[in-house]
Amino acid sequence: MTRILAIESSCDETAAAVVDDRDHVLSSVIASQVDVHCAYGGVVPELAARQHVEAIGPVVHQALEEAGAGLDSLDAVAVTQGPGLIGSSLVGVCAAKAIAWRRDLPLLAVNHLEGHIRSAFIDHPRIEFPALALIVSGGHTSLYLCPAEGEYRSIARTRDDAAGEAFDKVAKLLGLGYPGGPVIERLAEGADASAHAFPHARMKDGSLDFSFSGLKTAVRRRAVEQGLAHPEATGGEVSEETRDLAASFQRAVVRVLVRRSLTACKRERVKSLLLTGGVACNKRLRGAFRSASEREGFAFYAAAPQYTTDNAAMIAAAAFLHYERGAFAPLNINARSNFPL
Ligand code: KG4
Ligand code: ZN
Repeated sequence: MTRILAIESSCDETAAAVVDDRDHVLSSVIASQVDVHCAYGGVVPELAARQHVEAIGPVVHQALEEAGAGLDSLDAVAVTQGPGLIGSSLVGVCAAKAIAWRRDLPLLAVNHLEGHIRSAFIDHPRIEFPALALIVSGGHTSLYLCPAEGEYRSIARTRDDAAGEAFDKVAKLLGLGYPGGPVIERLAEGADASAHAFPHARMKDGSLDFSFSGLKTAVRRRAVEQGLAHPEATGGEVSEETRDLAASFQRAVVRVLVRRSLTACKRERVKSLLLTGGVACNKRLRGAFRSASEREGFAFYAAAPQYTTDNAAMIAAAAFLHYERGAFAPLNINARSNFPL
């Protein structure tokens, strides 16, 4: 049996998890900072780093306690090295290095994006390769080809905003609150998603790259044209027109994500399609991916909802591959804000 303690702090969630043998999650603790950043409509890096400093100790303790695992039962300590906010990542990296040094444990440095991809394997350990993974979150919208276990090749990425960022910005401009994804999903329920047709950006060079800033601008223009009032101005009431606009926006995002992913699946002749990252908990998106994959004959695997937004169980899941290869990190590693997978 191999047991790994993993730590994640690259953005605005302080998380720790204890995982046995790749996918047996004993505990997965997540301290969210949503309340802190809510007032600003986005993550404030300085505040995030300070919150991590306060939360990291208690979160690690809680993860060990819930797992019924002592520090002496661990085989390794894993941590997200990047990419992410440098001040935030540094907190997790320092904590992991301290535990590894004090307990004489091997240290495993994990790329956050590899963590997101491996999140799909926690509940589906036998996914067939080659696979294509879409990571769709607040910071990333990227397609990776995975020819074999532990191998990743970047196929496409966003040229401007990430899809989750677009959800957050559209929610902000419509006055709906933060984070935008869950709010828009809730308000879109039962609304008319065909009220607005939004064209999706195609890349002139035939690449599968994404772009969401034009869509965000189009939503803003429609909101102005229709004279949509911010809910604050109407006592919190969200108008039907606003809900239709939110639903149309969601549909446009879902559509482009599904289309590009399926095109990549065919182009790369993969067997499996993986959906991961914070936006992947969106039920419309999951449903659209499931039916398109069935129609086109690809095996489809979405990360379990609790492993879509940032968490440490996925970091542990990725760390096992490093551990098995003996790819340990030295104790002098630093956090990396820019860390291509
Ligand atoms: O993976 P994550 O926790 O952080 C990053 O690594 O970026 O993703 C957070 C993002 C936010 O932008 C949030 O609005 C979006 O995921 N999100 C959603 C939903 N839940 C969270 N987007 C659409 N629908 C949802 N239900
Ligand atoms: Zn993430």
